[in-house]
Amino acid sequence: MKPLIIALALVLAAPLPASAHPRPPRDLRQLAEQTGVKIGSAVDIAALRAESDYRRVLNRQFNHVTAENAMKWESVEPQRGVFTWDDADTLVENARRNRQQVRGHTLVWHNQLPAWLTAGVEDGSIGATELRQILRDHITTQVRRYKGKIRAWDVVNEVVEEDGTMRQSIWLKHLGSGYIADAFRWAHRADPRAKLFINDYNLEWNAPKIETTLSLVKELQAQGVPIHGVGFQGHLGIQYDYPGDWANVMRRFADLGLEVAITELDVRMELPVTPEKLATQATYYSRAMTDCLSVRACRELTVWGFTDRHSWVPGWFDGEGAACLLDENLAPKPAYQALLTVKNPR
Ligand code: G3I
Repeated sequence: MKPLIIALALVLAAPLPASAHPRPPRDLRQLAEQTGVKIGSAVDIAALRAESDYRRVLNRQFNHVTAENAMKWESVEPQRGVFTWDDADTLVENARRNRQQVRGHTLVWHNQLPAWLTAGVEDGSIGATELRQILRDHITTQVRRYKGKIRAWDVVNEVVEEDGTMRQSIWLKHLGSGYIADAFRWAHRADPRAKLFINDYNLEWNAPKIETTLSLVKELQAQGVPIHGVGFQGHLGIQYDYPGDWANVMRRFADLGLEVAITELDVRMELPVTPEKLATQATYYSRAMTDCLSVRACRELTVWGFTDRHSWVPGWFDGEGAACLLDENLAPKPAYQALLTVKNPR
C-alpha cells in the first residue's frame, strides 16, 4: 500500500508535460517555458540603452539574447590591444538581471574584422605565424572574459560558400583549414562549459552547403574537436518558398549528436506591407517554430531583431523590410500571434 501512495504522490507532484498545458502561452517567455525552446532576440545595444520601450519588450518577452554587433571583433578591439567591452558588458549584465541566457556572436568571421587586422594581413606586416597567435589571443581573451556567462558561442560563422567549397577567408588563406579545429579547441579551453557552435545562412536548404557542413562536422568530431551545435541563421523572405526540408536538415545534424538552434530568424518582404504579406510572413515564423519543435535537439529559436524599428534588412535589401515580429511602434504583428499558437508536440 505504502509504495502505491508514494507513487501516486510522485505522479501528482510532477509538472504537467508541456503539451498538456491547457492554454496557449500569453507571451514568448511563456512559450519558451512551455516548449523548452529558448526564445531569443538579437539586441541593438544603442536601443537597449536609449529606448525604455525597447528595453521593456526585450526583457519581458525573451529568455535568450545575442549581441547583433557588440561582440564582433571590430567592436571589441577596434585598435590593436585597445579593448572596448562596454557594449558587450552592457548586454551580458542586462541579461543577468533579466534571467536571459546569452549566445556569443561571433569569434571567427570574415566580416566586421578590425581595420588594423585586415590591413596588416594585406600589406604583409602580419604574417601567418603572428596571425595565428592573434586569433588565438582574440578567442581566449573574449571567451575568458565571459566565462560562465555565455551559454553558447558561434565559434565559426559562415565558413562554407554557397557552392559547397570552403570560404576563402583570410583565415583559410593564411592559416589553412586547421584554423577551424584550432578555434574550437581554444574556445573550449577558455570556457569548457560553453556550447560551441558552427553557424551559417542558407543552411536551411542549400544542398552543397549542407553536405559540406555535415562532412566538416564529422571530420571535426573524428579529430576529437569540441563542437556541440549547429546554428541555422534563417534569414528568410516571403518572395522565396519556405525551406520545406528544414526539419530534415536539422535532424541530420542532430543525428551527429549536435544541438540545433535557429540563430537569426527573420522574414523579410518587398514593401509596401499588406495584410496578405503579413499573413504569409506569419506562416513562415510559425513553420520555423514547428520545425524546431519537431526536432528534439532544437533548443533555441532566436530572431534577428524583434522590431522593425531596428532591423538590418532595409539597409541591405533595397525596397524590402518589415521582417520582424513587432512593427516599428512595437505592436505585435500576425507573426507574433502565430508563434504563440503553434501546436506543441513535445
Ligand atoms: O558602427 C558603425 C557606425 O560607427 C557608423 O556610423 C555606421 C554608418 O553606417 O555604421 C556602423 O556600422 C554598421 C554596423 O552594422 C553597426 O551598426 C555597419 O555599417 C553595418 O554594415 C553593420 O551591419 C551589420 C552586419 O551584420 C554587418 O555584416 C548588421 O547590423 C547586422 O545585423 C548583421 O548581422 C549579420 C550576422 O552578424 C551574421 N549573419 C548575417 C547577419 C545579417 O547580415
